[in-house]
Amino acid sequence: MSKIKIAIIGVGNCASSLVQGIEYYTQNPDADGLMYRDIGPYKVSDIEIVLAIDVDYRKIGRDISEAIFAEPNCTKKFSEVPNKKVIVKMGNVLDGVANHMRDFFQVDSKMISVDIVSELKRSSADICICYLPVGSAEAARFYAQACLDAGVAFVNAIPEFICSDTQWVEKFIEKGIPCAGDDIKSQVGATIVHRMVTRLIEDRGHKIDNTYQLNIGGNTDFLNMKDENRIVSKRISKTNAVTSILDNKKIGVRIGPSDYIPHLKDNKVCYINVKGTQFGGVPFELDLKLSVEDSPNSAGVMTEIIRSLKIAKDRGMSGNINEISSYTCKSPAKQIRDSEAKKIFENFVNEQYGKL
Ligand SMILES: NC(=O)c1ccc[n+]([C@@H]2O[C@H](COP(=O)([O-])OP(=O)(O)OC[C@H]3O[C@@H](n4cnc5c(N)ncnc54)[C@H](O)[C@@H]3O)[C@@H](O)[C@H]2O)c1
Repeated sequence: MSKIKIAIIGVGNCASSLVQGIEYYTQNPDADGLMYRDIGPYKVSDIEIVLAIDVDYRKIGRDISEAIFAEPNCTKKFSEVPNKKVIVKMGNVLDGVANHMRDFFQVDSKMISVDIVSELKRSSADICICYLPVGSAEAARFYAQACLDAGVAFVNAIPEFICSDTQWVEKFIEKGIPCAGDDIKSQVGATIVHRMVTRLIEDRGHKIDNTYQLNIGGNTDFLNMKDENRIVSKRISKTNAVTSILDNKKIGVRIGPSDYIPHLKDNKVCYINVKGTQFGGVPFELDLKLSVEDSPNSAGVMTEIIRSLKIAKDRGMSGNINEISSYTCKSPAKQIRDSEAKKIFENFVNEQYGKL
C-alpha cells in the first residue's frame, strides 16, 4: 500500500505526539490506544511526514525528529524518532504569534518565509494539517488557500471555521480537493466526555438546568488562550459541541479554557459540572474531573482523520467530508450524536473495504 504523505503547519505539541505516535505504532503495530488499527487499507505506519512548517527559529532548520522536542514543546516523550530527513521550514507568521506569546514562540524577523504553495507541490503531500495556535484566523486561511492552490487535501485541527464554512467548502469543491474539520475532538477529552454525560442525563429523563466545563493546562496552547480576544471561536466551538446535541437548548452554560498553570505542562485537567432536576422535581448535581495528557489525546484521532481523508482522496471526493468531520471534530458542518457519527464514519470506510 502506498504511503500517505502529510505536511504539518505548526510543529507544536500536537505535531510532536502525532510524529511520535507514527513511530510508536510502526514499531508496535499491536499496541493499544488506537480507535482503529486499520482504516480501509491504511495503518498508522503508512503515514509519512514530507513537509513541516513553523515560525519559531528554535525549530526551523532542524529535522522534524529533533524539532518536535525543541522548546517550548513540553508534551511527554513516548517514542524515539529517528532522523526523518524532513527539515522544518520557515512559514508566514501573520497572526500566528500573539503579542503575549512573543517570548514563547520566538520568531527571528530576519528569517524569510518559504513559498508555501511551491513547497506543498514539491513535497507531493497528499494532506496538510493546520496545527496553528488558537486565534490564527488570517494564518489558518492563508495556509488553507495554499492547499487549494497546490491541490493538497486540508485538515483543520483548530477552531477557525473553514471546513464548516459554505464559501470555503465551495472552493474545495471547485478545485476537487477534500477537507475535514474544524477543531479536532480528542479521543477521550473534555468535549466527548461532556457530550456523553449530558446526553446520558437527558436520555434518562432528567432535565439539565445549567452546566460548566473548566479547563486548565500548562502548555503553550493554554498560555496562548489567556487572551480572551483570541479564543472567541474556541468558546463558540467548544460550547456548540455540547449544546448542539442536547434537546433542551435553554440552559445556563459556560465552557472553555480557564487558566494556564505552567507546572501542569501538557497535562490538561477538566472539571465538568451539571445541575438539574430529577424525578419529582428534586434537584441533582454531577461533578466530574478528567486529567489527561492533552496532545497524544488528539494525535490518535488525527491518525483516523488522515487515513480516512486519504480514502476520500483516493475516491476522488471533494469539499468537506462530513462522514469524517462529524465524527472527529468539535465544529463540523453537521453536528450528529457521537454514536450515530461513529456508524456513519464506519459505513463510509466499509462501503469499499468491508468491516472496520
Ligand atoms: N487535544 C489537543 O491538544 C487539541 C484539541 C483540539 C484542538 N487543538 C488545537 O490544535 C492547535 C495546535 O495545538 P498545539 O498544542 O500543538 O499548539 P502549540 O502551541 O504547541 O503549537 C503551535 C505551533 O505553531 C507554530 N506557529 C505559530 N504561528 C505559526 C505560523 N504563522 N505558521 C506556522 N507555524 C506557526 C508555533 O511556533 C508552534 O510550534 C491549537 O490551536 C489547539 O487549540 C488541540
